Amino acid sequence: MAGYREFYRRSIEDPAGFWGEQASLIDWHKPWTRVLDYSRPPFARWFVGGETNLCHNAVDRHLAARGGQPALIYVSTEVDEQKIYTFRELHTEVNRVAAMLRSLGVSKGDRVLIYMPTIPEAIFAMLATVRIGAIHSVVFGGFAAASLAARIDDAQPKVMITADAGMRMGKAIRYKPLVDEALRLSRSPPRNVVIFDRRIDRSISRSPGRDLDYAELHARHMDAQVPVVWLESNEPSYILYTSGTTGRAKGVQRDTGGHAVGLVASMKYVYDARPGETYWATSDIGWVVGHSYIVYGPLLNGMASVVYEGVPVRPDPAIWWKIVHEHKVTVMFSSPTAIRVLKKQDPAYLRKYDVSNLRYLFLAGEPLDESTHRWIADALGRPVIDHYWQTETGWPILAGMPGIEKTPVKYGSPSFPVFGYDLKLLRESDAAEAAPGEKAVVAIEPPLPPGCMTTVWGDDERFVNTYFTSFRDKLVYSTFDWGMRDEQGYHYILGRTDDVINVAGHRLGTREIEEAVQAHPNIAEVAVVGVADSLKGQLPLAFAVVKDGSRIATPEACAAHEKEVMETVDKQLGAIARPARVLFVTLLPKTRSGKLLRRAIQALAEGRDPGDLTSIEDPGALEQIRAAIAGLRKE
Ligand code: PRX
Repeated sequence: MAGYREFYRRSIEDPAGFWGEQASLIDWHKPWTRVLDYSRPPFARWFVGGETNLCHNAVDRHLAARGGQPALIYVSTEVDEQKIYTFRELHTEVNRVAAMLRSLGVSKGDRVLIYMPTIPEAIFAMLATVRIGAIHSVVFGGFAAASLAARIDDAQPKVMITADAGMRMGKAIRYKPLVDEALRLSRSPPRNVVIFDRRIDRSISRSPGRDLDYAELHARHMDAQVPVVWLESNEPSYILYTSGTTGRAKGVQRDTGGHAVGLVASMKYVYDARPGETYWATSDIGWVVGHSYIVYGPLLNGMASVVYEGVPVRPDPAIWWKIVHEHKVTVMFSSPTAIRVLKKQDPAYLRKYDVSNLRYLFLAGEPLDESTHRWIADALGRPVIDHYWQTETGWPILAGMPGIEKTPVKYGSPSFPVFGYDLKLLRESDAAEAAPGEKAVVAIEPPLPPGCMTTVWGDDERFVNTYFTSFRDKLVYSTFDWGMRDEQGYHYILGRTDDVINVAGHRLGTREIEEAVQAHPNIAEVAVVGVADSLKGQLPLAFAVVKDGSRIATPEACAAHEKEVMETVDKQLGAIARPARVLFVTLLPKTRSGKLLRRAIQALAEGRDPGDLTSIEDPGALEQIRAAIAGLRKE
């Protein structure tokens, strides 16, 4: 492992030298004066004084050498469409959208909210925003009106860009009613909403003066040439909300120069992905994987990116491998849940197409169980690499890094710390470094490397308090994951230390779901826990106490009430957060000081020992949970 070891060692011992070299992977309008300013820990400022632009590096920079090569390969099995945009065509479209945004008064530092499905127009909007020095906030299309409203109020966008609808499994998800409702709920709604009409929803209403038609604006700017706005490296490029322990999502803020350098270095050394090739991340632009590896990573690296709107099993379970074959995908990125879905299908589908052009399949977002890892590696006959990271870091923390050295894969392990991350496994009790085989908190010694979150949007204090205060007397970034290292240095991720759960690779806060459940007027109290699920990794399960017991007096009434509560969650947060079941109890297990014993509830729900219960206020509450779960098992 000399290659990897040496590369990693240098990145930690001489970050300025290491990152100064990596920075030459992108174009700079003006060189930086200092690689790293760490005078105000834990805030790191990378490439201070340097000026660059993300859109220039993702698009304009490639025009001379590869203007005619594909940049976006859009495949939608939902609307049965396929369209390729070369770098030159992408440049033209981005300029048009940049001109549209400028005509609506958007300039440097303003926020643009993008609430769209994974379609090229969403990517044009992202790139156009950063082209003119503005900041995008992409909100996942599956989020409901109340979540969207909260994100609007936090980022206060000047303009919002949306579409009439998204599609999933052949079913339309109408966006406009959600947008209208979010704007009604919002305290600071954007001045204008631009609607890209895909003609899926024929009944969209437009509010005159506020709502504008994308096609109409577009037609006015056909020949637009909008110069890029050069930004100091540390100026923000985007905000992306993610869940944590509290009910309020955090706006993860990323900078400009460090963001580009971190991503492009990851493309080269982690993914071993080369300019001119095709990369495919099967995610959605609303999540961090979409931001980093559908949009910025591949384009910054001069690659074509597959933009896929669809699921892995429609029209049939060979669709992914057909795309890999036809578009010569060399590096692919997906989630363990998607692979577990495929695992349930006839393995013959995996052999229908020649996928020998695929060098690696990378998986991340949730734990990759050993049997799924083994199954897909055997079935595909290509290397499958588990890697671990978070919305906050924006690019991998732990990975096998074939771009540096092809290290052997150990099933169940995302391998080694990635360059730039001074990874520590710290004992929860005294912050001492754990021994091999010992379970500890996965932490990162700051400064965080380029490309990681720089702060919480509008709230530096929250950034420090959330991520850097897990250990007394030690300023260290907590990932909120448990981990372990073996004697050979392979790492293992053992679940979250906080109340975040992972449903089908989607990160959700149990507090957030609890608040959504509580929005139902008849719910007095609720506890939501994540329980292990063989397909989706985890599923949310809710235990609720009602105000008016007569509403659940009969089994039929109970079922109807449960459905109502689920619909409330759909409306508040989105269907992705809907609890698998809502079970009614009259008491929740709490400590004498009133803290919910979520871990005990979760243990019972998973059929494990609930552990030490000496602090419990009323043991009867636990009996109710036990009974509710026993009832569930019988069903
Ligand atoms: O708990 C870890 C889990 O997903 C969390 C981050 O989720 P998100 O912010 O949505 O970012 C996903 C980026 C890929 C982590 O804190 N997680 C992510 N990858 C893995 C993982 N758990 C185990 N193994 C992984 N490979």
